[in-house]
Amino acid sequence: MCGIFGCILKDEKAAPVMHAALKRLEYRGYDSVGEATIYSDALYIKKDQGKIDEVHRIHDLDDLPGNIGVGHTRWATHGAPTQVNAHPHLDCNRQIAVVHNGIIDNFAELKSELENRDHIFKSRTDTEIIAHLIEDTLNTNPSLSLADAILETVRRLNGSYAIAVISTREPNKIVCARNESPLVIGINENSIYCASDIPAFLPRTNKVVIVNDGELVTLSLEGFEIRKIADSSTVARESKLIDWTPEMAVKQGYPHFMLKEIHEQPASLRNTLRIQEHYLELMATFPDRAREVFLVACGTSYHACLAGSYAFSKLAFLATYPVIGSEFVEQYGKSVNIDSTILAVSQSGETADTLAAVNIARQRAATILGLTNTIGSTLTRVSRVYLGQQSGPEIGVAATKTFTAQLSVLMQLALRLAKKRGKISQDEMDFLEEKLEKIPDNVETIIKTQEEKVKQIAKKYKDAKTFFFLGRGISTATAYEGRLKLMEIAYVPAIAFPAGESKHGPISLVEPGFPVVFICAKDESHKTLIGNIMEMKARGASTIAIVEEDDEEIKKLVDDYVEVPKGIPEVLSPIPFVVPLQLLAYYMAVERGHNPDMPRNLAKSVTVK
Ligand code: F6R
Repeated sequence: MCGIFGCILKDEKAAPVMHAALKRLEYRGYDSVGEATIYSDALYIKKDQGKIDEVHRIHDLDDLPGNIGVGHTRWATHGAPTQVNAHPHLDCNRQIAVVHNGIIDNFAELKSELENRDHIFKSRTDTEIIAHLIEDTLNTNPSLSLADAILETVRRLNGSYAIAVISTREPNKIVCARNESPLVIGINENSIYCASDIPAFLPRTNKVVIVNDGELVTLSLEGFEIRKIADSSTVARESKLIDWTPEMAVKQGYPHFMLKEIHEQPASLRNTLRIQEHYLELMATFPDRAREVFLVACGTSYHACLAGSYAFSKLAFLATYPVIGSEFVEQYGKSVNIDSTILAVSQSGETADTLAAVNIARQRAATILGLTNTIGSTLTRVSRVYLGQQSGPEIGVAATKTFTAQLSVLMQLALRLAKKRGKISQDEMDFLEEKLEKIPDNVETIIKTQEEKVKQIAKKYKDAKTFFFLGRGISTATAYEGRLKLMEIAYVPAIAFPAGESKHGPISLVEPGFPVVFICAKDESHKTLIGNIMEMKARGASTIAIVEEDDEEIKKLVDDYVEVPKGIPEVLSPIPFVVPLQLLAYYMAVERGHNPDMPRNLAKSVTVK
């Protein structure tokens, strides 16, 4: 997730307006910033790595001439946060400047095609190919308008994008286009804007046009023209007036970032499926060769590791050890060695306990692999190979979209490993890959159809003093995560454990009305789980189940249930099954009068440079 912005102003310099707009988009990404303007038929550009204020102190972002420009605030996915990788990106002749939010899946193929035609690339980003592809299209057919050249260009892109382009060839226009990344237009009497999000231009106009997927828009001071990318046909669309406050606008109308981020999961999960195949392949070679593999993380990321360890075992027949970061040094600090591989999982890439484990393992010559959401973080610097999970920044302190993304990457890795080790048939592989592709849609369905139900359940149980979360097999990890979410934001003490452990102690806590949440994935332990539900019911517990929609047997048994789509393979189940638990924690916090975005005593780790 990055923030893009563009503006054309009648009587004002564009740069200070862009600078202020990018500040308002900084929640979308903050590792680099850049602006490009056109003045007297020449392009001017300033960009660097760092937060906007830092870059402004060094480069003075307000000091660019011209009343038209595009700007960008970055959250790195392809290429580390460096000056050369910051947007805007230019073509060979410095006539075209492009800003982009999204991921171009086929950039490697397009890049080598363009390099064979003598285009020189400066960055390691996927975005730069767009500038060169527009240039190449115009070289081949110089009579094309800028908008038509961009139409041809975007038709060749696979992946997600919201782009804004300026060019000295048509210095009074911005051309922007959208596929699966947000893009909005703002209109005022003497100015026009495009941006990733409304807050960027809200102080200047509240007259807004939403751009849909598959559309290209040409902006000028005369107005805007929308065309369909597929067939170039023109689309008529009225503007509407937005009455959001700036605070509401940043959250896109959601009351809290946490709820916004829960709702972002279908999109963020689609992004995790865009990880380049060769990086997964490369990463999979290390666990395959290692004598022992540790999955090391803290908190929610540890729960992803726990689920990952089930998946590695079930799919790739590889035993891995999930270890809590703060325990690693005591437990394995002396035994870890050159034959060990450590896969550290950390959204921030900066969690001290995870890094301490990594440090000791490095000192003892183990191989370090990283999975993180923060390219440029310490974890990416110390890892032999790392994967970026591509979730975009998470503002809510409680991890939600970054958890499901970690799960998705770990499942993809487990599948690669299974293939490499010859432990999975092609049919099974195809089946699971197809199911994984559908997970974002499954999550979308859950949010659409079950949110209201979860809200009602939260109302019903809002005064409960304690909760149990129970699952078996891989659903144990889901149960742990449901418990952590509820504790950290709703301050409800909760206990989670594998359901089979009930009768070894915890069941003595149960008395009439005690809420017990069961995670009921359809796997081999389904029958046994029904036994555990019966045990709890017999003691008067109030039972709540997360079930597949056709699981009539369990639906009949329990007091309340939330449904997920049917046919989800067990190894993928933590992704959809955790979503109702995230919503439960959120609505319990709201019902109990707490701010879910700011849990007391907690803060998110941030990158230190
Ligand atoms: C819980 C939560 C924390 C983090 C943990 C690790 O919602 O956010 O438990 O998961 O602090 O953080 P990272 O993944 O940044 O290492």
